[in-house]
Amino acid sequence: MTFMQRLIDFFGKKSSKAKGGGDQAISKQKAGGKMTARERIAALLDDGSFHEYDLFVEHNCQDFGMHEKELAADGVITGSGTIGGRPVCIYAQDFTVAGGSLGFMHARKITKVMDHAMKMGVPIIGINDSGGARIQEGVNSLAGYGEIFYRNTLASGIVPQISVILGPCAGGAVYSPALTDFVFVVDKISKMFITGPEVVKTVLGEEISMEELGGARVQVETAGNAHFFARSEHECFEQIRKLVSYLPDSNRRKAADVEKKEPRPTYKIETLIPGDSKIPFDVRDIVRAIVDDSEFFEVQKQFAPNAIIGFSRIGGETVGIIGNQALVLAGVLDIDASDKIARFIRFCDAFNIPLLTLVDIPGYLPGSDQEHGGVIRHGAKVLYAYSEATVPKITVILRKAYGGGYIAMCSHHLRADFVFAWPTAEIAVMGPEGAANIIFRSEIQGSKNPEETRRQKVKEYTDKFANPYVAASSGYVDAVIAPEETRGYIVHALRLTRDKQESRPARKHGIPPF
Ligand code: HXC
Repeated sequence: MTFMQRLIDFFGKKSSKAKGGGDQAISKQKAGGKMTARERIAALLDDGSFHEYDLFVEHNCQDFGMHEKELAADGVITGSGTIGGRPVCIYAQDFTVAGGSLGFMHARKITKVMDHAMKMGVPIIGINDSGGARIQEGVNSLAGYGEIFYRNTLASGIVPQISVILGPCAGGAVYSPALTDFVFVVDKISKMFITGPEVVKTVLGEEISMEELGGARVQVETAGNAHFFARSEHECFEQIRKLVSYLPDSNRRKAADVEKKEPRPTYKIETLIPGDSKIPFDVRDIVRAIVDDSEFFEVQKQFAPNAIIGFSRIGGETVGIIGNQALVLAGVLDIDASDKIARFIRFCDAFNIPLLTLVDIPGYLPGSDQEHGGVIRHGAKVLYAYSEATVPKITVILRKAYGGGYIAMCSHHLRADFVFAWPTAEIAVMGPEGAANIIFRSEIQGSKNPEETRRQKVKEYTDKFANPYVAASSGYVDAVIAPEETRGYIVHALRLTRDKQESRPARKHGIPPF
């Protein structure tokens, strides 16, 4: 063959592989409102930055007529490219090729690009759109999943791992996203479940649609398996690009600083907290009044909304923010909020992202549902995660900091570097009403006017403890500050802690209560 013939032959081969499962399968994919695997990669990465590997990999299955079937790129596109100029490794399952089902070589392509990501220290992004284990390949496809799960675990805390669910992600396949750091879903397109509607019907006699069982909304609002919800694939890719901008490439680095910006003047911190401590306020407004350009990129917005978590920048530096949201359940910690907070702390700690905690918490949620659901062990995760974290930890107590909630929300006792409190802070074992009812019970009951005595005792307790000064007198609060001083104190604390070094006793690993 001449050089020219070789080139023509190469381009022919390449374009036939790049066609995926062919026109009919692609039309079906589009009719379902879905992009193809290649279109997704092109839309997510910087223009023209994608470099594909292993296009010519072929499956090695001989059974069930598979020896006659050619599966383009074995149903998964792998390679690397850039987002905002920074390299990432990526794979996208191609549903148009055998339903994106995962066979042995398909899995090998994925694990190869995961190995690359770990070795090079860059994020790995997986776009899932698959009917699960390739049935014709039997145990070899299960082996493939096992290899992926193992690498997800190895990569945990080494490089950011992002999963995007853009189609079915069924059966054991869901455990790869579950092992990664952030899961993105798109309305009406994403479906995640361990057992599908047919199995549910057979085993439980329950009729349920795929959407109700494991659609995007279920995943972000109820199950908490997904962290970001989008209405379209394009919106989802914008969210991923934004997330990546806040993160370092790997645990060997810090996230890149950007030019610092002041918060927007619309958010005036001194006016945001209502005078009456019983009236709730949106803690996100406090965040926006503190952070650069008032930008807060919220994570798991729809799940456990009594706590907020997310990324912002302060003084140009990425910060992980955690806050109690008094607008929902008065901002208590419950099972779901504890899980949400604890996992976020561990992510930030692994990737050198300082933590800012905004406290307004009446305590843990009471009741048998919570007790029986294990609020003790779930709540313990927050204590564990904060205690274990060695990144800079800055806490601001806005209003209530009662009981276990005070300790759990990054108090000095869990090794916060700085705890600041506003004059509106109330740091006590419990709220004044509950406290007075317990410790002055006999006095109240024995009094001629129990209601009046109760009021007096509540006032007595409030005057004594519902303030930041008792804690400050013991050094548990480093400074009582006016709300408008908050950003200045945090910017300075971040500068001071930038090269912070702290270690914990050497051990193989701890045993967190998960
Ligand atoms: C091989 C598969 C496949 C699979 C789909 N296909 N899933 N081929 N193995 N797991 C093929 C179909 O045969 C079809 O091929 C093409 O992909 C498109 O599938 P359709 O069924 O036509 O698409 P749709 O109607 O959109 O339905 C999608 C689906 C359905 C809901 C995902 O295909 C389905 O239920 N698939 C099986 C899901 C499943 O049970 N997977 C195994 C789970 S167990 P043709 O040639 O006709 O175009 C598992 C264990 C992992 O994953 C354990 C890890 C620990």
